[in-house]
Amino acid sequence: MKIAILGGTGSIGEGFALRWAEKHDILLCSREIDKAVKTAEEYTSTLLGKGLLCCGITGCKNETAIGDADLVVLSVPYGGVVPLLKSLKPFFKDQIVISLVVPMKKNKWFEYTPPKQGSAALEIKDHLPESVKVISAYHNISAKKLANLDLNLDYDVVVCGDDEDAKKTVMELTREIKNLHPLDGGGLSSSYMVESLTPFLINLSIRNGLSDLGVKFV
Ligand SMILES: NC(=O)c1ccc[n+]([C@@H]2O[C@H](COP(=O)([O-])OP(=O)(O)OC[C@H]3O[C@@H](n4cnc5c(N)ncnc54)[C@H](OP(=O)(O)O)[C@@H]3O)[C@@H](O)[C@H]2O)c1
Repeated sequence: MKIAILGGTGSIGEGFALRWAEKHDILLCSREIDKAVKTAEEYTSTLLGKGLLCCGITGCKNETAIGDADLVVLSVPYGGVVPLLKSLKPFFKDQIVISLVVPMKKNKWFEYTPPKQGSAALEIKDHLPESVKVISAYHNISAKKLANLDLNLDYDVVVCGDDEDAKKTVMELTREIKNLHPLDGGGLSSSYMVESLTPFLINLSIRNGLSDLGVKFV
């Protein structure tokens, strides 16, 4: 599969690129081509340095990768998503788009700040062609832990979406990351529950001296 990671130069993009590059072509995307190419080279060298297989990580501008991709990961901060999608909408066809976007702000503690649609995932769906299949996942995974290939993650990943085939594809992709366990979280309208867990986990970490908490249902 060709996977485009928009904002792949950032914190959580790194872990997805490193973890999926063994079996998939990664289009590592940025608003700036030089940054994308440099970061793609760094990630490739990390994998080769560990003796791991790599199908290929190619640095691209966000807009040039989308048309070629089977699946697009939206890995940019909430505040940048809608403006970015307004400019990129014409490049989408019928890809699967994964939103891991969490709208939140910090007052005394972190708070979930959903848009009027109810969740970032539903707002994102409004800004893409109807043929695109939006799936929501990975909101509660720590970027730091995902990028540490030596770490045993052992987390559940709740996957929400209205297209059952697209949801199955994302659940399979999740299983490819060792010890991440996908759970079907229902339709995209359920995404708000999973998105809102992220500021809660951050507050739990801060208040209890823990770091990079994730979720496991037992
Ligand atoms: N970090 C985590 O642990 C974590 C966990 C779960 C979910 N998430 C979610 O994943 C998304 C990415 O998080 P992150 O921590 O990886 O973010 P980040 O490192 O701050 O940013 C990721 C990339 O987004 C691009 N970007 C930044 N501002 C932008 C804007 N205004 N418009 C377009 N692109 C912009 C940048 O790429 P270029 O400059 O190269 O274009 C940047 O490298 C967020 O929505 C977050 O809620 C994060």
